[in-house]
Amino acid sequence: MNTKKIIQFHKSSILHDEIKEVVDTLKSGWITTGPKTKRFEEDFRKYIGCKYAIGLNSCTAGLHLALAALNIGEGDEVITTPITFPATANVIIHQKATPVFVDVKIDTLNIDVSKIEEKITSRTKAIMPVHFAGHPCDMGKIMDIAMRNKLSVIEDAAHAIESEYNGKKVGNIGDFTSFSFYATKNITTGEGGMLTTNNDELAEKARMLSLHGISKDAWKRYGKEGFQHWELFYPGFKYNMFDIQAAIGIHQLKKIESFLKIRKKYVDMYNEAFEDVPEILPLKIKGRIKHAHHLYVIIIKTEELNADRDEIMSEIQNNGVGLGVHFRTLHLQPYYQNPNPKSKIRNHRLYKRGMFPVAEYASDRVISLPLYPKMSVLDVKYVIKVVKEVIEGFRK
Ligand SMILES: Cc1ncc(COP(=O)(O)O)c(C=O)c1O
Repeated sequence: MNTKKIIQFHKSSILHDEIKEVVDTLKSGWITTGPKTKRFEEDFRKYIGCKYAIGLNSCTAGLHLALAALNIGEGDEVITTPITFPATANVIIHQKATPVFVDVKIDTLNIDVSKIEEKITSRTKAIMPVHFAGHPCDMGKIMDIAMRNKLSVIEDAAHAIESEYNGKKVGNIGDFTSFSFYATKNITTGEGGMLTTNNDELAEKARMLSLHGISKDAWKRYGKEGFQHWELFYPGFKYNMFDIQAAIGIHQLKKIESFLKIRKKYVDMYNEAFEDVPEILPLKIKGRIKHAHHLYVIIIKTEELNADRDEIMSEIQNNGVGLGVHFRTLHLQPYYQNPNPKSKIRNHRLYKRGMFPVAEYASDRVISLPLYPKMSVLDVKYVIKVVKEVIEGFRK
């Protein structure tokens, strides 16, 4: 392969309308949380069809606020998946609670719901499913388990803004759902997130906690309604979205379904192209769902080849194709392997290889291929050609 083509793993689609809105915000004299954040929250709330949407500086912040609003803390356990970004489990630990991992299913890399109940103890307070790559988890079963065991459900929907489960939009199912607008996500505000809920009390508490735990938003305090003192109700966090972010988000949201249409077309191209490559296992679509197609993840059956995942990745990258790994399983990361002898808090467990065989198999074999609207059909064809040639070169 002798060509100079370079395809980045991701490029954002920021166009003239986002730029114009940001400039308008900068010139307006009000750049932190204010009218544009309110507008973006309202647009997002309508898109999801939920009662409350709280603009934040990240999805991580939303997951953390959800736990805090639900009073999940020291001694509590939260069930989640090890095939996720560290943020999902980190926030559980920030609350001094314990993440309890459950293995995933090989076809979607979502949590294996049949293994959740055996992990429930008297300390379990919540389930935190992750809609991996944009494929919603089996929320019917998760909500049923949660109801029978009186557990809360906090959905990590960092990948799943457009997703639906059995005709219901993600963001309307669990107690809280947290979305991400990080730079590589389906729509972006650079950094940013949104927390949704249909519960009045939880919404009020999460919103207050998102801005120090005080009762009035700053932009209202200095507004036309006359001066109002704030009051402190909780020692909260500084997690608010601000208007420069929201200015981008307002216009990104308008394009969300047209972006998805392009990604879906590329997913179909990838799926079709890899049908005749027995060493490549693309993920599957299971049940009556709408997939957000955030990532295109393949599992390479390296046991059938002469190279491991990292060697295969290096060869693909040497041919100009940017790649990602989503994810190397959390339970084999140093933090979960080595106990901190000084820690008095029971907030991590010792995990060993062999405990989650499916997560471990996938962890050593997953590769994410480029998938974004700024790619052209020719780019997708080039990625396919490179991946196929590299796999062929490593055949036994
Ligand atoms: C599954 C998952 N959860 C949470 C996050 C955190 O999102 P954010 O960067 O918006 O905090 C990410 C980010 O990549 C993610 O992939």
